Amino acid sequence: MRNITLVGFMGTGKTTSGKILAKRLGYHFIDVDEEIEREQGVSISHIFSELGEAYFRMLERDFIKALSFREGLVISAGGGAVIDERNIQSMKLSGVLVCLTATPDTIMKRVGSSRNRPLLKVPDPLARIKNLMGAREQFYRKSDFTIDTTAMTPGDVADEIIRLTAGMI
Ligand code: S3P
Repeated sequence: MRNITLVGFMGTGKTTSGKILAKRLGYHFIDVDEEIEREQGVSISHIFSELGEAYFRMLERDFIKALSFREGLVISAGGGAVIDERNIQSMKLSGVLVCLTATPDTIMKRVGSSRNRPLLKVPDPLARIKNLMGAREQFYRKSDFTIDTTAMTPGDVADEIIRLTAGMI
């Protein structure tokens, strides 16, 4: 059973849809951020503020690589994981890469005031979302499939992923 890794910007529903998807497929669900928090014993915000983003990216890369040796997983990767080509390679090696998207306004509504999104702790989070999204578009495009979740429920997203990846996992 090959893995399905969900990538995409913060607030596109990777974790919510991923959990439903895993249940429907009988796969094991893994949220990379949650696992890093569990292993390190501190929040992502704490890692960013005390140890720096580069340190977080190293933990993220190591964890994604380790997951590529396992199978039967639905993996929710953090929104910035795609920036590192090594992560794309690891994720594609073990399965299918599905990118979830949503409009900046939708993302703002979903996670704009989240306390555990250090990159959005700025005076104008919507501008930050638009900016980061634009800069990352080229990386998200490397996914095997892209689903715009703006007008979809997490259950619909899970079904669409099952439909798209049929025969590939
Ligand atoms: C990040 C997204 C977050 C988390 C970290 C950095 C990003 O994950 O990994 O705050 O760079 O976009 P989610 O996409 O699960 O919110």
